Amino acid sequence: MRMVDIIYKKREGYELTRDELRFVVEGYTKDQIPDYQVASLLMAIYFKDLSNKEIFYLTEAMMMSGDVIDLSDIDGIKVDKHSTGGVGDTTTLIVGPLVAACGVPVAKMSGRGLGHTGGTIDKLESIRGFQVEMSDKRFIDIVNRVKLSVIGQSADLAPADKKLYALRDVTATVDNIGLIASSIMSKKLAAGTDAILLDVKIGSGAFMKNEEQGLILAQQMVDIGEQAKKNTVAILTDMNQPLGNAVGNSLEVKEAIQTLKNEGPQDLKQLCVYLASNMVLLAEKAKNIEEALEMVNDKLVSGKAFEKFKEFIAAQGGDLSVIDDPSLLPEAKYIYSVKAKADGYIETIKADEIGLAALILGAGRESKHSVIDLSAGLILHGRIGDKILENQPIATLYTNMDMKLEQASSIVNGAFCFSKEQVQLPKLIKAIVSSQGIKNM
Ligand code: URA
Ligand code: CA
Repeated sequence: MRMVDIIYKKREGYELTRDELRFVVEGYTKDQIPDYQVASLLMAIYFKDLSNKEIFYLTEAMMMSGDVIDLSDIDGIKVDKHSTGGVGDTTTLIVGPLVAACGVPVAKMSGRGLGHTGGTIDKLESIRGFQVEMSDKRFIDIVNRVKLSVIGQSADLAPADKKLYALRDVTATVDNIGLIASSIMSKKLAAGTDAILLDVKIGSGAFMKNEEQGLILAQQMVDIGEQAKKNTVAILTDMNQPLGNAVGNSLEVKEAIQTLKNEGPQDLKQLCVYLASNMVLLAEKAKNIEEALEMVNDKLVSGKAFEKFKEFIAAQGGDLSVIDDPSLLPEAKYIYSVKAKADGYIETIKADEIGLAALILGAGRESKHSVIDLSAGLILHGRIGDKILENQPIATLYTNMDMKLEQASSIVNGAFCFSKEQVQLPKLIKAIVSSQGIKNM
């Protein structure tokens, strides 16, 4: 097989075979095919698109390029959750305990964050003593005993995707739905769970700017899941403002603790309960969504999910006094209030800009080797629809680098868009896509 023939075939709009896609993915992973040939294939794919079959074969080849995790030593139906690019996405810390409290095993492999804020691993490490590095045996033991464990990604999951994504990033070929769907699903399939729940974000701060595109991506990923014989459900949710109020590692841990005590922001709680209920349904612990919602709500209100969270933190060596007294979490030296420049109703809060401000304050990594400031970030004071007066605080910034305050503050000001008129509130949960079709909410 010759790479040039494969590029030509795709350029002319023909369908590539399973063997051809495997040849490309394997050859590129092993450095046997140069960047320039793969880059030109990616551009041909960008213009001609991939068929459903090609998307599945590409996903499969990328999944097979590294380790495929075997979770069969864990009892019960394992369900994974994935969000497509949320800013300040605290949901895993809340959804994990909610689902585990319902008896569903949660075996989560998580990476460190790159970009705006840390990943789940970074957030958990702001709890003193918490360990994310452990043997697979200990990980599986904890999941069987506690029903919830989070491990740092030591396995080599879908290395082909890592390489291809880096190339897409510099060749303007990221925003193709087939490439995005196969990239996300190759990693989810390699993680070895029985079922997958996808949270597809729609809006100003997300990859998918509108519902129409979001639906196509969701359907594509559900289709891949079905072909791989894994029950897959996608939920379309709003990202015209960040979820919850906190962005930044220890700030988000505090918000997660509040939410698990049923005292957190309404939107964060609503989404977490809905995601958790769908995972409970996928794990066949409830007969229908109504029953699952009731079960999950009960775990929240009764405090059982919060107890489960503590059990999980203790099992991985975390200091529970930090959970009982969140003021023991890392705290920033400088705290600064950002004030509104004019009156108006909040129309959108650009989540990607808020993420950038958090990064500048120290909450994220600019490169793989940057050191993260676990105490840095910001708290938003206002949601879409709120009426704000000039000079009213719209956010509080937290950092250990006072010279960054001015720049971050100006970005936060720019992220808030105001309207003179009253604004309609966005629907948080827009639609649900499964093998049964689309259900609008
Ligand atoms: N997230 C991914 O993992 N891959 C993409 O291609 C886009 C978003
Ligand atoms: Ca948040």
